[in-house]
Amino acid sequence: MALIELDQIRKSYKMGNEDLEVLQGVSMTLDQGEYVAIMGPSGSGKSTLMHILGCLDVPSAGHYYLLGQDVAKLQESRLAPIRRKQIGFVFQSFNLLGALNALENVALPLLYQGASAHEQRSRATEALNQVGLGDRLHHRPNQLSGGQQQRVAIARAIVTNPPVILADEPTGNLDSHAGQEVLGIFSRLHLAGQTVIMITHDAQVAHHADRIVEIRDGNVVASQEVTHA
Ligand SMILES: Nc1ncnc2c1ncn2[C@@H]1O[C@H](COP(=O)(O)OP(=O)(O)O)[C@@H](O)[C@H]1O
Ligand SMILES: [Mg+2]
Repeated sequence: MALIELDQIRKSYKMGNEDLEVLQGVSMTLDQGEYVAIMGPSGSGKSTLMHILGCLDVPSAGHYYLLGQDVAKLQESRLAPIRRKQIGFVFQSFNLLGALNALENVALPLLYQGASAHEQRSRATEALNQVGLGDRLHHRPNQLSGGQQQRVAIARAIVTNPPVILADEPTGNLDSHAGQEVLGIFSRLHLAGQTVIMITHDAQVAHHADRIVEIRDGNVVASQEVTHA
């Protein structure tokens, strides 16, 4: 069974009297353990697709099979628990809570799952160690560099062991050094078996993945394996 199968996914937004067709029949299959980049220019529909892949939104038409279950027509109340269990999100702007330290930010998804305080602490510490931030547990976001904040966000994404990590322009707000560090972490996670979907407009960034799916004007126009030198 494929991890993810999109079948003719469409998404349109009503703008005044007109329907703006942002996704025009996107189909793709993703297997467990893949590292895929979804690449396209600004406005091509990447974030719209990311929201659908991440069960943050539903398509206007088409089927989305996530681990065999069609989630395309589910209501938010059914979508939310699927999202919490199956997807780890990484956003361009980190989306950390400023009042919480790194450990508390990473522990939050475990808190929502009802994990004990002891388990939250040990698993969040372990996730922060995995991203090289074992010595920054008690720093708040404004006491961390951008690259470190994104690494906290990655720790938060992996702490629940979700089958999929979904990252939208994860290096978009970072300088090239911090961006390379973040990409290095994704590569290591992928080597350890983690499925990673990364959304980017940047071809150099996309080439860190094993496969690049190119999207233009709401359509998939290419899907190519990357050969790593
Ligand atoms: N909520 C919305 N309502 C109306 N139009 C939208 C909405 N979200 C995105 N769009 C439009 O859809 C197109 C694709 O947007 P988006 O998915 O954010 O592209 P990308 O992430 O590739 O830059 C853009 O033209 C954008 O203006
Ligand atoms: Mg976008």
